Amino acid sequence: MLMKAKPALISPSDESFAALVESVTDYAIFLLDDVGRVASWNAGAERIKGYSAQEALGLSYELFFTSEDRAAGLPAAALRTAQEEGRYRNEGWRRRRDGSHYWAGVVLTALKSAEGGVRGYLKVTRDLSERHDAAERLRESEERFRAFMSASPSLMFIKDRAGRYLLVNDRFLARFGLRLDQVLGREDVELFAPDQAGRFVENDTRVFALGAPVEFEEVARYADGERVNAVSKFPIRDAGGNIVAIGGIANDISESRRTARELAETAEQLREVSNRLVEIQESERRELAYELHDRVGQNLTALNISLNILMRQLPAAGGGADDLRVRLVDALRLIEDTALCIEDVMGGLRPPVLVNFGLFAALRWYAQQFEKRSTIAVAVGGAETEPRLSAERETAIYRIAQEAMTNVAKHARATRIDIDFRCDGATLVMSIADDGVGFDAAAPGRRSGQPRWGMINLRERARAIGGRLDIDSAPGRGTKITIELRCRPG
Ligand SMILES: Nc1ncnc2c1ncn2[C@@H]1O[C@H](COP(=O)(O)OP(=O)(O)O)[C@@H](O)[C@H]1O
Ligand SMILES: [Mg+2]
Repeated sequence: MLMKAKPALISPSDESFAALVESVTDYAIFLLDDVGRVASWNAGAERIKGYSAQEALGLSYELFFTSEDRAAGLPAAALRTAQEEGRYRNEGWRRRRDGSHYWAGVVLTALKSAEGGVRGYLKVTRDLSERHDAAERLRESEERFRAFMSASPSLMFIKDRAGRYLLVNDRFLARFGLRLDQVLGREDVELFAPDQAGRFVENDTRVFALGAPVEFEEVARYADGERVNAVSKFPIRDAGGNIVAIGGIANDISESRRTARELAETAEQLREVSNRLVEIQESERRELAYELHDRVGQNLTALNISLNILMRQLPAAGGGADDLRVRLVDALRLIEDTALCIEDVMGGLRPPVLVNFGLFAALRWYAQQFEKRSTIAVAVGGAETEPRLSAERETAIYRIAQEAMTNVAKHARATRIDIDFRCDGATLVMSIADDGVGFDAAAPGRRSGQPRWGMINLRERARAIGGRLDIDSAPGRGTKITIELRCRPG
């Protein structure tokens, strides 16, 4: 039963229809009299507006409006519109009994008598708050998406399956020098030169075929010239999982590419300079060693022979030449010391033993010299390579051993060094291990901002002869330096 107000100006004639209306809960359906007072009420009205039938009947429907709308005269204006046009439709905020607001969809229909006078109104109200919230959330989400797109330094776009642009960002337009109306709904072939459009479409096809994101580098001609882009293209799916569009993001990497290329070139040039320096150094050392050995050494030998001859010609002891003999003995010892000294120096230069007997022999010889000069025991294991390496490679490996051993003497506080030198026919491996304090080999080879040239030199020398250098060290664990290289091509 539809509840009726006291002066029931209007009443539904069909009782079963009235019962139906009364039971509807999704809609507030009620009657107003000709001045807008509630004349009937249903379950939906109670649910949505929060008034019971008792409370609502006879109330002015103005109470359902917000105070702002009431102040603006909306209740009366709505009735007037319904009266004049038969119907008033509106969506807006309405007020519940507890003062809270909801988003209402309202239809107000004028009920007229046979003579044409308004007897009252039928009001149907729906609570559309949820739909309104969803729309609001969607709008916010769209706005967030739009803000990201337009602020992004990347170029972004979405195309439909037919390759027509659905959406592009500001960066896209700026880069290609196009306007939005020129782009939307168009395909690549309509916008770009055939080769470029072909490349774009080809990559789209890959994404559609693969059904997964694809990343690649692509050259694109922009308004200001050709650029290299890192591009990511990906499928966009509908709720059913079907690919309906393709999205793309492109970042201009031309600059970083150029910087990387320049850096690599600079590094290569540096390497060449350093190799050249090493070559010059080696040739100077060769010359010095030659001078020392062939001239100073020869002269010392000649001097030694002459002094020995003089010595033999002196009268026997006590024959009046004792003073002279003492001086001669001194001179001979001096010559011997000088010869040792020269040998030592030559060890640092280019020892004849390396030239004449090979790398392994030179390492053993150098180890002996090293032991004499320090308190560190050196063991050398292995054998000569067969056949010998090129002079350049022999020298480089000899220098690596020298530098590594000098470091042991300088930094390691070690008691022994083990050198292992082997060639199994294809690869040569030399390792130099000490039992010293070790160091953090992973830390960059710098101390107080200064590069450590020794380590850099080791690496560069190894690299120059196509070898691989490995430094294995940790504080407290000693140090092992290994160089590995193919000793025979193939
Ligand atoms: N065998 C080693 N034992 C301990 N520390 C070492 C050893 N070799 C190198 N180092 C460390 O590595 C640093 C870099 O060596 P290097 O480049 O030859 O420079 P430098 O010998 O001029 O200090 C050394 O200063 C030292 O701290
Ligand atoms: Mg050093």
